[in-house]
Amino acid sequence: ADVPVICIDGPTASGKGTLADELAQALGFWVLDSGALYRATAWAALQAGLDLNDEAAVAPLAATLPLRFAGGQVYLGEENVTEALRQEAVGLGASTVAALPAVRQALHALQLGFRRVPGLVADGRDMGTAIFPDAPLKVFLTASAAQRAQRRHKQLIFKGVSANIEGLLADLEARDLRDKTRSASPLKPAQDARLLDNSDLTIEASVDQVLAWWADQR
Ligand code: C5P
Repeated sequence: ADVPVICIDGPTASGKGTLADELAQALGFWVLDSGALYRATAWAALQAGLDLNDEAAVAPLAATLPLRFAGGQVYLGEENVTEALRQEAVGLGASTVAALPAVRQALHALQLGFRRVPGLVADGRDMGTAIFPDAPLKVFLTASAAQRAQRRHKQLIFKGVSANIEGLLADLEARDLRDKTRSASPLKPAQDARLLDNSDLTIEASVDQVLAWWADQR
């Protein structure tokens, strides 16, 4: 557990993934997108026609996920599921299976395995509170809901997907509410987390802030 971890937790579409990737690149660290594990579980359960609330059926799937990250792509067995996992419906499904304690339990050890030298940047909802409680730097990243919906909207339009802001806002607020109010590892800042509101910050400014905190605590 001497391998350092930087935890980036926060609500949907707050920019955790981008921040984590940039930090990992700057520091030469590994990166863990923990949301992808919940998304892959939801995807596999949907493919199998399971009820996403059926804990006894979904948890074994999570425990044996043939998940692989390679070259910026995510594979489930032989299948490239990178695009599939990004769908809003899969994100919403992920927040359903993520509320099941047996699913969180099944994914726990898998996440610990990403902690390798020289270090890890882990993004999610409970990196600092449940998975890496001993991490030397924990960041809780937020942005206003309106700002987050707008960013998600821009991303989708850029990809040529039509979307409306009101619908996106409603979806992300529903997901945040579910993530914050579940009893198993709810979304909340760790006691020793540093809060970063990036509503009015560029990506570079957010990266610089976290790098400054990192330099500070070493
Ligand atoms: O971060 P992302 O949007 O990919 O996560 C999808 C869903 O997975 C979240 O809404 C949340 O319910 C769940 N999740 C979680 N714990 C994590 C990461 C994601 O519960 N560490």
